[in-house]
Amino acid sequence: MLHDFFRWIQETLGATASAESWSQQFRGSLNLWGITEGTHVLTLMVFAGSIWLVDLRLMGVAFKSTPFSKLNDKVLPYTVVSFAVLIVTGIALFLAKPVDYYHNVWFRAKMIFLIIAALNIFWFHVKVQKNEAEWDEADKPPTSARLSGAISLSSWVIVIILGRFIAYNWYDCGKPLPGFVNWFAECASTPSGIVTADAAPPLVFPASGAESSTSQLAQGR
Ligand code: HEM
Repeated sequence: MLHDFFRWIQETLGATASAESWSQQFRGSLNLWGITEGTHVLTLMVFAGSIWLVDLRLMGVAFKSTPFSKLNDKVLPYTVVSFAVLIVTGIALFLAKPVDYYHNVWFRAKMIFLIIAALNIFWFHVKVQKNEAEWDEADKPPTSARLSGAISLSSWVIVIILGRFIAYNWYDCGKPLPGFVNWFAECASTPSGIVTADAAPPLVFPASGAESSTSQLAQGR
Protein backbone atom coordinates (compact mmCIF):
# COMPACT_ATOMS: atom_id res chain seq x y z
CA MET A 1 0.00 0.00 0.00
CA LEU A 2 2.75 2.46 0.96
CA HIS A 3 4.60 1.37 -2.17
CA ASP A 4 1.64 2.42 -4.32
CA PHE A 5 1.26 5.69 -2.45
CA PHE A 6 4.95 6.57 -2.87
CA ARG A 7 4.78 5.53 -6.51
CA TRP A 8 1.89 7.94 -7.02
CA ILE A 9 3.92 10.73 -5.38
CA GLN A 10 7.01 9.91 -7.41
CA GLU A 11 5.37 9.54 -10.81
CA THR A 12 2.01 11.28 -10.81
CA LEU A 13 1.66 14.04 -8.21
CA GLY A 14 1.97 17.41 -9.93
CA ALA A 15 2.46 15.89 -13.39
CA THR A 16 0.69 17.50 -16.35
CA ALA A 17 0.69 16.81 -20.08
CA SER A 18 3.74 19.02 -20.45
CA ALA A 19 5.49 18.60 -17.09
CA GLU A 20 6.94 15.81 -15.00
CA SER A 21 5.79 15.09 -11.44
CA TRP A 22 7.03 17.38 -8.66
CA SER A 23 9.29 14.59 -7.43
CA GLN A 24 10.92 14.25 -10.83
CA GLN A 25 11.25 18.01 -11.21
CA PHE A 26 12.86 18.30 -7.77
CA ARG A 27 15.25 15.43 -8.49
CA GLY A 28 16.18 16.90 -11.86
CA SER A 29 16.50 20.48 -10.62
CA LEU A 30 19.71 22.31 -11.31
CA ASN A 31 20.45 23.28 -7.71
CA LEU A 32 17.50 22.68 -5.42
CA TRP A 33 18.19 19.01 -4.67
CA GLY A 34 21.89 19.76 -4.14
CA ILE A 35 21.14 22.66 -1.81
CA THR A 36 18.69 20.50 0.15
CA GLU A 37 21.18 17.67 0.56
CA GLY A 38 23.98 20.14 1.34
CA THR A 39 21.80 21.67 4.06
CA HIS A 40 20.99 18.18 5.40
CA VAL A 41 24.67 17.25 5.64
CA LEU A 42 25.93 20.59 7.00
CA THR A 43 23.18 20.78 9.60
CA LEU A 44 24.08 17.27 10.61
CA MET A 45 27.49 18.59 11.77
CA VAL A 46 25.79 21.01 14.18
CA PHE A 47 23.35 18.35 15.33
CA ALA A 48 25.93 15.62 15.95
CA GLY A 49 28.48 18.06 17.36
CA SER A 50 26.02 19.42 19.90
CA ILE A 51 24.31 16.18 20.95
CA TRP A 52 27.61 14.34 21.36
CA LEU A 53 28.82 17.01 23.82
CA VAL A 54 25.81 16.23 26.01
CA ASP A 55 26.21 12.45 25.49
CA LEU A 56 29.88 12.53 26.53
CA ARG A 57 28.99 14.52 29.66
CA LEU A 58 26.19 12.07 30.44
CA MET A 59 28.59 9.16 30.05
CA GLY A 60 30.98 10.81 32.50
CA VAL A 61 33.70 10.92 29.85
CA ALA A 62 34.17 14.67 29.24
CA PHE A 63 33.40 18.10 30.76
CA LYS A 64 33.17 16.43 34.17
CA SER A 65 33.60 19.67 36.10
CA THR A 66 30.62 21.31 34.35
CA PRO A 67 27.17 20.49 35.79
CA PHE A 68 25.12 18.51 33.30
CA SER A 69 22.24 21.02 33.37
CA LYS A 70 24.56 23.93 32.57
CA LEU A 71 26.03 22.23 29.52
CA ASN A 72 22.64 20.92 28.41
CA ASP A 73 20.98 24.36 28.66
CA LYS A 74 23.71 25.97 26.54
CA VAL A 75 23.81 23.28 23.88
CA LEU A 76 20.17 22.16 23.61
CA PRO A 77 18.91 25.05 21.39
CA TYR A 78 21.50 24.13 18.73
CA THR A 79 20.48 20.47 18.92
CA VAL A 80 16.76 21.19 18.67
CA VAL A 81 16.98 23.67 15.79
CA SER A 82 19.42 21.51 13.80
CA PHE A 83 17.26 18.43 14.40
CA ALA A 84 14.20 20.26 13.03
CA VAL A 85 16.17 21.27 9.92
CA LEU A 86 17.39 17.66 9.50
CA ILE A 87 13.85 16.33 9.63
CA VAL A 88 12.51 18.90 7.14
CA THR A 89 15.40 18.49 4.66
CA GLY A 90 15.35 14.69 5.17
CA ILE A 91 11.66 14.48 4.29
CA ALA A 92 12.22 16.76 1.29
CA LEU A 93 15.06 14.51 0.05
CA PHE A 94 12.87 11.47 0.59
CA LEU A 95 10.14 13.02 -1.58
CA ALA A 96 12.56 13.29 -4.50
CA LYS A 97 12.57 9.48 -4.89
CA PRO A 98 10.10 8.02 -2.38
CA VAL A 99 9.75 4.59 -4.02
CA ASP A 100 13.51 4.12 -4.32
CA TYR A 101 14.14 5.14 -0.72
CA TYR A 102 11.20 3.12 0.56
CA HIS A 103 12.83 -0.04 -0.84
CA ASN A 104 16.38 0.97 0.10
CA VAL A 105 17.81 -1.24 2.86
CA TRP A 106 20.07 1.52 4.19
CA PHE A 107 17.19 3.99 4.37
CA ARG A 108 15.05 1.43 6.22
CA ALA A 109 17.85 0.65 8.66
CA LYS A 110 18.42 4.38 9.16
CA MET A 111 14.74 4.89 10.05
CA ILE A 112 14.94 1.98 12.57
CA PHE A 113 17.93 3.59 14.30
CA LEU A 114 16.23 7.01 14.20
CA ILE A 115 13.34 5.41 16.08
CA ILE A 116 15.73 3.78 18.58
CA ALA A 117 17.39 7.17 19.15
CA ALA A 118 13.98 8.84 19.57
CA LEU A 119 12.84 6.18 22.08
CA ASN A 120 16.05 6.73 24.01
CA ILE A 121 15.35 10.48 24.18
CA PHE A 122 11.86 9.68 25.44
CA TRP A 123 13.22 7.29 28.09
CA PHE A 124 15.80 9.89 29.14
CA HIS A 125 13.18 12.61 29.66
CA VAL A 126 10.59 10.43 31.32
CA LYS A 127 12.79 8.29 33.59
CA VAL A 128 16.47 9.21 33.72
CA GLN A 129 16.10 12.97 34.02
CA LYS A 130 13.57 12.71 36.84
CA ASN A 131 16.25 12.72 39.54
CA GLU A 132 18.69 14.93 37.61
CA ALA A 133 19.25 17.21 40.63
CA GLU A 134 20.88 14.29 42.50
CA TRP A 135 23.58 13.65 39.88
CA ASP A 136 23.75 17.01 38.07
CA GLU A 137 27.23 17.82 39.37
CA ALA A 138 28.55 14.26 39.65
CA ASP A 139 31.70 13.35 37.67
CA LYS A 140 30.13 10.05 36.91
CA PRO A 141 26.33 10.14 36.48
CA PRO A 142 24.34 7.01 37.44
CA THR A 143 24.30 3.93 35.23
CA SER A 144 20.95 4.78 33.61
CA ALA A 145 22.24 8.23 32.55
CA ARG A 146 25.52 6.80 31.26
CA LEU A 147 23.64 4.10 29.39
CA SER A 148 21.29 6.64 27.83
CA GLY A 149 24.28 8.76 26.75
CA ALA A 150 25.98 5.72 25.21
CA ILE A 151 22.81 4.63 23.35
CA SER A 152 22.37 8.17 22.04
CA LEU A 153 25.96 8.55 20.88
CA SER A 154 26.10 5.15 19.18
CA SER A 155 22.68 5.35 17.55
CA TRP A 156 23.46 8.75 16.00
CA VAL A 157 26.81 7.44 14.73
CA ILE A 158 24.95 4.52 13.12
CA VAL A 159 22.26 6.83 11.65
CA ILE A 160 25.00 8.94 10.03
CA ILE A 161 26.80 5.89 8.60
CA LEU A 162 23.54 4.41 7.28
CA GLY A 163 22.56 7.80 5.81
CA ARG A 164 25.83 7.89 3.86
CA PHE A 165 25.25 4.37 2.54
CA ILE A 166 21.79 5.20 1.11
CA ALA A 167 23.51 6.49 -2.02
CA TYR A 168 25.01 3.05 -2.83
CA ASN A 169 22.96 0.64 -4.93
CA TRP A 170 24.56 -2.67 -3.86
CA TYR A 171 21.31 -3.98 -2.38
CA ASP A 172 18.77 -2.45 -4.76
CA CYS A 173 15.70 -4.55 -5.61
CA GLY A 174 16.09 -6.53 -8.81
CA LYS A 175 19.67 -7.56 -8.07
CA PRO A 176 20.56 -11.17 -7.18
CA LEU A 177 20.26 -10.74 -3.42
CA PRO A 178 19.81 -13.13 -0.49
CA GLY A 179 16.15 -13.71 0.40
CA PHE A 180 16.30 -11.83 3.70
CA VAL A 181 17.49 -8.66 1.96
CA ASN A 182 14.55 -8.88 -0.46
CA TRP A 183 12.28 -9.48 2.50
CA PHE A 184 13.70 -6.54 4.47
CA ALA A 185 13.39 -4.19 1.47
CA GLU A 186 9.99 -5.62 0.41
CA CYS A 187 11.33 -6.08 -3.11
CA ALA A 188 8.36 -8.28 -4.05
CA SER A 189 6.22 -5.17 -4.37
CA THR A 190 8.52 -3.59 -6.95
CA PRO A 191 7.83 -4.07 -10.66
CA SER A 192 10.92 -6.29 -11.08
CA GLY A 193 9.90 -8.51 -8.15
CA ILE A 194 12.04 -10.67 -5.90
CA VAL A 195 15.30 -11.87 -7.34
CA THR A 196 17.00 -14.19 -4.90
CA ALA A 197 20.51 -15.53 -5.17
CA ASP A 198 19.06 -18.95 -6.17
CA ALA A 199 16.68 -17.63 -8.78
CA ALA A 200 19.15 -15.24 -10.38
CA PRO A 201 20.44 -16.03 -13.87
CA PRO A 202 24.14 -16.93 -13.99
CA LEU A 203 26.40 -13.95 -14.53
CA VAL A 204 28.03 -14.13 -17.96
CA PHE A 205 30.87 -11.80 -18.70
CA PRO A 206 30.78 -10.88 -22.40
CA ALA A 207 33.72 -9.94 -24.56
CA SER A 208 34.99 -6.41 -23.92
CA GLY A 209 32.94 -3.65 -25.49
CA ALA A 210 29.60 -5.43 -24.99
CA GLU A 211 27.31 -4.43 -22.14
CA SER A 212 27.86 -6.70 -19.15
CA SER A 213 25.04 -8.78 -17.67
CA THR A 214 25.71 -7.12 -14.31
CA SER A 215 25.02 -3.68 -15.71
CA GLN A 216 21.89 -5.05 -17.40
CA LEU A 217 20.81 -6.46 -14.04
CA ALA A 218 21.53 -3.15 -12.34
CA GLN A 219 19.24 -1.47 -14.84
CA GLY A 220 16.53 -4.03 -14.18
CA ARG A 221 16.73 -5.64 -17.63
C1 HEM B 1 19.17 13.28 12.89
C2 HEM B 1 18.67 12.77 11.85
C3 HEM B 1 19.41 12.45 10.56
C4 HEM B 1 20.73 12.23 10.33
C5 HEM B 1 21.86 12.21 11.33
C6 HEM B 1 20.88 11.99 8.91
C7 HEM B 1 22.06 11.71 8.25
C8 HEM B 1 22.22 11.61 6.88
C9 HEM B 1 23.46 11.44 6.17
C10 HEM B 1 24.83 11.30 6.80
C11 HEM B 1 23.17 11.41 4.85
C12 HEM B 1 24.17 11.21 3.71
C13 HEM B 1 24.55 12.48 3.07
C14 HEM B 1 25.59 12.23 2.00
O1 HEM B 1 26.74 12.16 2.35
O2 HEM B 1 25.23 12.09 0.83
C15 HEM B 1 21.75 11.56 4.70
C16 HEM B 1 21.08 11.58 3.51
C17 HEM B 1 19.73 11.43 3.40
N1 HEM B 1 18.82 11.47 4.43
FE1 HEM B 1 19.20 11.82 6.37
N2 HEM B 1 19.64 12.07 8.33
C18 HEM B 1 18.71 12.33 9.31
C19 HEM B 1 17.35 12.45 9.17
C20 HEM B 1 16.66 12.10 8.04
C21 HEM B 1 15.23 11.95 7.92
C22 HEM B 1 14.25 12.18 9.07
C23 HEM B 1 14.97 11.57 6.64
C24 HEM B 1 13.68 11.26 5.95
C25 HEM B 1 12.55 10.97 6.48
C26 HEM B 1 16.23 11.50 5.95
C27 HEM B 1 16.38 11.18 4.61
C28 HEM B 1 17.56 11.23 3.92
C29 HEM B 1 17.67 11.05 2.48
C30 HEM B 1 16.52 10.74 1.55
C31 HEM B 1 19.03 11.19 2.16
C32 HEM B 1 19.64 11.18 0.75
C33 HEM B 1 20.31 9.88 0.42
C34 HEM B 1 20.94 9.95 -0.97
O3 HEM B 1 20.25 9.73 -1.95
O4 HEM B 1 22.15 10.19 -1.04
N3 HEM B 1 17.23 11.83 6.83
N4 HEM B 1 21.19 11.68 5.96
